[in-house]
Amino acid sequence: MNPFSYGSVVKGQYFYDRHDECNRIVSTLTGGNNLVLFAPRRFGKTSLVFRAIEELEKLGYFCIYFDFMPVYSRESFIESFSKAILSKQSNLQKGVKKIATLIKGIRPKLVFDQVGKPEFSLDFTDDKVTENTLSEILDLPERLASEGKRYIIIFDEFQEINNLNGENFEKLLRTKIQQQGHVTYLFLGSRTHLLNDMFSNKSRAFYNSAMIMQIESLPKNETVEFLKSRFSKSDITIDETVALYLIEQAGNIPYYIQLLAAEVWQYMISLRKQVDIEIVGFCAEKIVDLKNDYYFELFGKLSAYQKKLLKSLLVSGENVFSADYTKRFRLSATSTTQKALIGLVEDSIVEKVEGKYFIADPFFRRFLFRYA
Ligand SMILES: Nc1ncnc2c1ncn2[C@@H]1O[C@H](COP(=O)(O)OP(=O)(O)O)[C@@H](O)[C@H]1O
Ligand SMILES: [Mg+2]
Repeated sequence: MNPFSYGSVVKGQYFYDRHDECNRIVSTLTGGNNLVLFAPRRFGKTSLVFRAIEELEKLGYFCIYFDFMPVYSRESFIESFSKAILSKQSNLQKGVKKIATLIKGIRPKLVFDQVGKPEFSLDFTDDKVTENTLSEILDLPERLASEGKRYIIIFDEFQEINNLNGENFEKLLRTKIQQQGHVTYLFLGSRTHLLNDMFSNKSRAFYNSAMIMQIESLPKNETVEFLKSRFSKSDITIDETVALYLIEQAGNIPYYIQLLAAEVWQYMISLRKQVDIEIVGFCAEKIVDLKNDYYFELFGKLSAYQKKLLKSLLVSGENVFSADYTKRFRLSATSTTQKALIGLVEDSIVEKVEGKYFIADPFFRRFLFRYA
């Protein structure tokens, strides 16, 4: 088994650090305050929150995790959200009955799959889901909570609510949250600019409605220790300099660190000796080779100006709109740069952290060095 894991939520021995962040999440939520946590994709938000959920459940809270990513309509929200709530009920049959009485616009039922396992399913009584039904479903946790349970609702990739809008959904949810006394909310999101706008823009419904927390990369010294100890399980050694080199090649982004380390482990496993810089470089190149077609396609779709801009970002992502930057990279008017950059950020090719722009995927960056 590869001692490194990437792609989905990591737990147990694949997870390290984040103690302070976890404590802060737990204390904010148990204190009854809503929280919004954001960071670019692949920094470890969902994994961190699953860790916090473990702690919160130990304290007796009911945590309902809900991912907005696959939601494409009000109907699909209602269906998945009631499913998520139901999964926390000890008696499924009772839960379904309760939902049926509390929410008028839907007909929930239990169906049995091929192996006889009960599954939740629902029909809508009307062709169009009314605001009333949506309102009732959003109240469901509070109604259940008043029976002595305390609920924490986690909305992952919350910025995707923008696609469901309109803003009626956003406003309705905000109203509900304000009214509910037994439910606390944790919002997570990757598209930092969208989320920031939702919570920090005075004209938006969620303005000032939650405490804001941003998570950074994992601390390098902890990552070095993690790499050393995970490799050592297979009798592979990696010294600090090489580990730091690996971290740098992975852009110091948790997901890419594990991706690259997994590739290095794969390469080392038959040899079982010391990892060196050449091996790390070789494996990083191999990852680019594997993703080559995808990267070509991605690059091919960009406008000529966006390609030019990406090349400048390879060198520097600071003060992108300054006269110096424009001159140095022979760019067009600031408004043109702005427009091109917005497109790149929208497509998650470029991320912005603390005013600095960077290419989100360090291996795409490597690809650009090769070909652009
Ligand atoms: N605390 C951590 N310890 C070890 N690896 C982590 C940690 N957080 C994130 N990762 C790595 O990053 C990957 C993406 O994490 P995830 O929680 O899905 O990020 P996000 O929700 O921010 O996109 C994980 O699969 C794992 O490889
Ligand atoms: Mg996530």
